[in-house]
Amino acid sequence: MGALENKVALITGGNSGIGLATAKLFKAEGAHVIITGRNAETLASAQSVLGEAAIVVQADVANLDDLDQLFATIEQRHGRLDVIFANAGVASPYPLAQITEAQFDNLFDINTKGTFFTVQKALRLLRPGASIVLNASIAQYTGVPGLSAYGASKAAVRALGRLFAAELAVREIRVNVVTPGPIATPIWNRAAPGSLDPNIEAQLIARVPLGRMGQPEEIAQAVLFLASPASSFTTGAEILVDGGVVDLPAAAGSRARP
Ligand SMILES: NC(=O)c1ccc[n+]([C@@H]2O[C@H](COP(=O)([O-])OP(=O)(O)OC[C@H]3O[C@@H](n4cnc5c(N)ncnc54)[C@H](OP(=O)(O)O)[C@@H]3O)[C@@H](O)[C@H]2O)c1
Repeated sequence: MGALENKVALITGGNSGIGLATAKLFKAEGAHVIITGRNAETLASAQSVLGEAAIVVQADVANLDDLDQLFATIEQRHGRLDVIFANAGVASPYPLAQITEAQFDNLFDINTKGTFFTVQKALRLLRPGASIVLNASIAQYTGVPGLSAYGASKAAVRALGRLFAAELAVREIRVNVVTPGPIATPIWNRAAPGSLDPNIEAQLIARVPLGRMGQPEEIAQAVLFLASPASSFTTGAEILVDGGVVDLPAAAGSRARP
């Protein structure tokens, strides 16, 4: 029996990267999977990968009408929701001196407001025992220049994990946060399609004690743990899946040394 046998699980941003890897793992573990995203093409290819039983909904997490429609669809098809992975996000770097109000708002609308209202609007479908996992980022901790707005939008997500958990404990709903380091997904080349710039990749890897980018499947495994009863006494917590970037800064680059 799978770790999520017969559970109804929503993954926002399930048509790419970490979200798609998680949707595949959840399906393999017995869940009924619902994914969202905005891009019709990648939604269609995710549908063919996940199979016809998966529910694929085109929905912008920053648009509250889209969220209402999404949860109405889930209610109609399943009548309940057991797991949410609030994963949809964008990550553009903007120097403090140049970022515009529209760029700032876009980051917070998707990463922070989108996460907030995804959870709020799902509440009526969640039952005792449900699990919510939010996707943050080590950008909230690492002080990389150019990531102030993105890092702040994700620091807010980490805070929401704690505060939602406090409010939902009485309903026996757990809320936890997964915090990825640099993971090899399309997010790194969304601004300039193509493969990840080797210079950027080398700079990222130089900060990782384990000496490589992470894979989306490695985040999915942590999300599965938090989503499943295996973590039944864990709430308000954060799991770093970052190859040691945040906790072992002095070990960065050690794999390159003789
Ligand atoms: N990769 C990393 O190194 C890394 C590190 C730390 C944290 N993260 C976080 O991990 C999450 C997933 O990112 P990823 O690396 O897997 O990148 P990705 O492949 O670019 O996936 C991002 C996903 O979010 C969806 N999305 C973006 N804006 C959306 C919106 N307004 N409404 C609905 N869906 C939306 C995208 O779908 P559409 O394209 O269809 O909109 C896509 O499915 C993000 O929250 C990101 O901040 C990633």
